[in-house]
This record gives sequence, structure tokens and C-alpha cells, in this order.
Amino acid sequence: MESVVGNVRLVKVNKVFQGKAPVKKAWYEVWKPGHIPSEVHVVKDADLEIRDGEFLVLVGPSGCGKSTTLRMVAGLEEATSGDIYIGDRRVNDVSPKDRDIAMVFQNYALYPHMTVYENMAFGLKLRKFPPSEIEERVKKAAGLLDIEHLLNRKPKELSGGQRQRVAMGRAIVRRPQVFLMDEPLSNLDAKLRVQMRAELQKLHRTLGVTTIYVTHDQTEAMTLGDRIVLMKGGIIQQMDTPLNLYERPANQYVAGFIGSPSMNFIPARLEAVDGRVEIVASGLRIEVPAERRQGLESHLGKAVTFGIRPEDIYDRQFAREDAPMAHFEALVEVFEPMGSEVYLYVQAGADQLVCRVDAHTSARVGQTAQLALDLRKIHLFDPETELALNRPTASGC
Ligand SMILES: Nc1ncnc2c1ncn2[C@@H]1O[C@H](COP(=O)(O)OP(=O)(O)OP(=O)(O)O)[C@@H](O)[C@H]1O
Ligand SMILES: [Mg+2]
Repeated sequence: MESVVGNVRLVKVNKVFQGKAPVKKAWYEVWKPGHIPSEVHVVKDADLEIRDGEFLVLVGPSGCGKSTTLRMVAGLEEATSGDIYIGDRRVNDVSPKDRDIAMVFQNYALYPHMTVYENMAFGLKLRKFPPSEIEERVKKAAGLLDIEHLLNRKPKELSGGQRQRVAMGRAIVRRPQVFLMDEPLSNLDAKLRVQMRAELQKLHRTLGVTTIYVTHDQTEAMTLGDRIVLMKGGIIQQMDTPLNLYERPANQYVAGFIGSPSMNFIPARLEAVDGRVEIVASGLRIEVPAERRQGLESHLGKAVTFGIRPEDIYDRQFAREDAPMAHFEALVEVFEPMGSEVYLYVQAGADQLVCRVDAHTSARVGQTAQLALDLRKIHLFDPETELALNRPTASGC
């Protein structure tokens, strides 16, 4: 029987591409076309462990090394150094077809002359599966994906969403240990993407197959991932659950990447006043709650970056009563009604903040608004290293 262990492990994995950069010459040198070899280090010391059955999302801005990481797991790129394990097997030297993985790409190129059935069966035929087994697998996958009625159609007779399902079906029939997906939904329009996102979640629950999913969309990452790996410049910034990434970001980059609108960052100082610790910015003075003072001693009297999410700022009139609040005033510069809430762009001293407040706020442009911020949700970062100085606990206290 095949091993069912589908955990994937990357240990100190690096990828360096040997590129060629154009020769830079001074203007007085004779122009001669030429290139000098150059190296680009695109994945740096990646340590990852994906548990059997887990849905792990790699997210980050364009060019941060997500696809390269995934392609190394698939065997389509060779790791420059480090070890890659699938199950208990080191697969660095195992060819892609023997890694027991199935990939779904953004460009899922279906064979146009084949029917949906044939497209889904193709990989199994190549692997010389008996026809009865092929039929059983294709029908089962088609049932899961709700495309049984489309099996005799050609790809051109399908909608974008249906084609995407067929591409998914091609991977499912393989019954691999691991699914690798690289932006599989990005060719779909926004509405369809949301729908497919929900279906992917259901599918994963049904099949329980370890999945590594690449996206640059933070909503997709937050909604799909059991855990999320946030990358920047080839370096893993944080690997955590969606909630921890949101509530307890390890650094300013993670804090700013997750959440919309982004967290407000305000230059401030930490001051010790009569036994209290205060965050002092140009338009704010906030007492740090006792339970959040740990680790701040060495920063007293120094500059810090204060972070607060727009949704943790309230119109004082509508502030939660069960949470400790710090009050402040700010001048409203922009008022954006979103229906369920209002985005206020305000000026507090020299600093600008975005606040997501109650739809019934009485704040108006040009007037001073009375605001409150949730003290349990404050964030503090070292302005030089951008690392979090201390972090809220998981319960938000
Ligand atoms: N074959 C290659 N040779 C040289 N550099 C490469 C090669 N493939 C990728 N790169 C570079 O490696 C970096 C990471 O690329 P990668 O495709 O992994 O990014 P990504 O995070 O998937 O981005 P996107 O969201 O745009 O798909 C980029 O700077 C890219 O230019
Ligand atoms: Mg990519």
C-alpha cells in the first residue's frame, strides 16, 4: 500500500538563479554588447513544515519567491542548497513525476481537442492505469466538482469557472499525496473567485490532501489557509495561523500586509510617567496597559512605531464598553461611507490615521471627531529593526 504521509518539509532551502546582467560601461568606453554573469538569491534559508492534510498558503508581494518555493517542492526547479522532504523521503533528487504531487497552475491549459472526460483522464492514461480505474476516478472527481454534466464537452464550450474545475479535476484524479497550486483562481473574475474559494475549502475538507497554495491575495490567504507563510524578498517573515498573523504580527511588514485598510503606523516615543508607561505621539498620549509593559523597559525614552488597525478605532459614541479604551480627538479630512461602516481619514496632531467607525457616526469633514482606540489591540515596533517589541496575547489582551 502507498504511504499516506503527506507532510512536506523544507530545511534551510535556498535558490540562487544564475542570471546574466548587461555589462555597465562608462560612456567613454567603446560600446560592445555583452553580459556578465550575475546571481539572484530569490529564496533564502526557507524552513517550512507542512503537516499531513494541512492547507498551507504562501503569500507575499510579486517577486518574493512564492512560485520558486512551490516549484522546488514540485521538482520543477532544483534547490541550490537545503533539503526537501515529502513524507519521510528526501526528494531533492527525485524527478517531478515520481514525487507523488499534482499541480494546478494559473494557466491551466486544457487540451482544446479533447473532451472534459479525456482531459481529466489523460494523465492517468499516460501512467497506464486500467480503463475501469480511470473511469471510476474521473467520475468520482467530476461528482465532487459538480461537472458530471460537462464530461462530453470541449473546453471552448465551458465558462472560465468550469474550465478551472476541470483543471482541478485533472489534479484530483491523480490522488496525490500533495496538491501544489499556484494562483489557480487568478484568471477568474472577482465574483467567481470568491465562489471557487469557498468550493476549494469544501473540497479540501472532503479530500483532506496536504495542499500548498500560492497567492498574492491576502483575503485568499486568510480564508483558505490553516496556516499562512508570509514571504518578502525571499525571506519568510512569519508562519502562523491567519488569526495570529492578524492579531500578533511579528514585524511591521506583516502587520501592514494583513488587513484592509492597512494598520496605521505612527512615529512615537515611549515615556515613563509617574510609574506609568505612555506612548506619546504628536496628537496622542496613550497609557500602555500593565499587561503589555513586558519587554518595553529598554525602550523607555526612545522612539517607537505605534500601530493600530483602523477597525480598532471607534467613534467614542459607539465604542465597545467591555474594552479598555484610550480617548483622543482628531480632525476629519475625508469621510467614506461604505454602507456597513464609515472610513474616516483623520489628522491627529501631525499624524494621519484611517478609522473604520460605525455607519451612524456623527463625525463630519472639517470637524473634530471624538475617537477611542482599543488598548488591547495596540502594537509597538522598533523603528529600526521593524520587529514587534511585544505582542498582544492570542486572546487579544
Ligand atoms: N529562471 C529565472 N532566472 C532568474 N531569475 C528568476 C527566474 N525565475 C524567477 N526569477 C526571479 O526570482 C524572483 C522570485 O520569483 P517568483 O516567480 O518565485 O516570484 P513570485 O513570488 O511567485 O511572484 P508573482 O506573485 O509575481 O508570481 C523574482 O525576482 C524573479 O524575477
Ligand atoms: Mg508566482
